[in-house]
Amino acid sequence: KRHLISAADLTRDDAILILDTAEELAHIAERPIKKLPTLRGRTVVNLFFEDSTRTRISFEAAAKRLSADVINFSAKGSSVSKGESLKDTALTLQAMGADAVVIRHHASGAPHRLAGSGWLRGSVVNAGDGTHEHPTQALLDAFTMRRRLAGGRGDLEGRRITLVGDVLHSRVARSNVLLLATLGAEVTLVAPPTLLPIGVETWPCTVSYDLDAPLPKSDAVMMLRVQRERMNAAFFPTEREYSRRYGLDLRRMAMLPEHAIVMHPGPMNRGMEIAADVADSTRSTIVEQVTNGVSVRMAVLYLLLGGNEPAQSTPGGVTA
Ligand code: CP
Repeated sequence: KRHLISAADLTRDDAILILDTAEELAHIAERPIKKLPTLRGRTVVNLFFEDSTRTRISFEAAAKRLSADVINFSAKGSSVSKGESLKDTALTLQAMGADAVVIRHHASGAPHRLAGSGWLRGSVVNAGDGTHEHPTQALLDAFTMRRRLAGGRGDLEGRRITLVGDVLHSRVARSNVLLLATLGAEVTLVAPPTLLPIGVETWPCTVSYDLDAPLPKSDAVMMLRVQRERMNAAFFPTEREYSRRYGLDLRRMAMLPEHAIVMHPGPMNRGMEIAADVADSTRSTIVEQVTNGVSVRMAVLYLLLGGNEPAQSTPGGVTA
């Protein structure tokens, strides 16, 4: 495949290949010399029209560990603020020789538009578009679940994963539901009715309004950020009422099976969807998810840009 736009585009084999490659790259990253020469001479552009901490830094670290040149483009402070279009921005990047463009955009569908436009010859990777998808987040979450629940390269088939909160505005939720269903997991979404998207009944998951019900059978519970910046106040109960009904506190965490993990993609609203002592508990994989993101994004860039080179066709074969 040339682009990564949506978790829906990944077959089970595609997803397993990315996750297994990430596992191999994670072991290489643990060696004293972390850098691989695989993408030397390639240019990766981080094209961010929306704020980001984890994803942008993670893609930058991933590209640099593969020896690619990295250009960070933030719409703030660029000619986008003078009204320059996505097309002219893309043509400018193409003129500078971008081999891959990692795009985050407030408009759902922007990465798809870029990939299908012919404005760029390189690969397009979706780093989060509007309320649509965030496929590398879902991949790093699946990677984390495989490591914690299935010994690294094991199967997520039949694992019970509960996603909780603001599904309506969450590109993370959609990508996770799609990818986890492809990997055979059983997903339950828990949210207030006003924070579920139209058409959620067609998603490959079950829906509940009661958080206490699925917790005792969950292998992982993933709390979603309440996205107040995208929200009409009429859709939201008070913060206190939301936390009481849909927040993960110590009482609720104690309802989980002993082996179960607590996840959050970040950034968190501590004290709203997740209590601070839960976020900082030994069951929390929140920091680990960030670490795993680098390996997963290395795998994505490697497979899109470098995976076809016969002499260096496996990451294990290109040790520094
Ligand atoms: N999880 C995530 O996408 O975080 P950022 O918005 O900080 O990139």
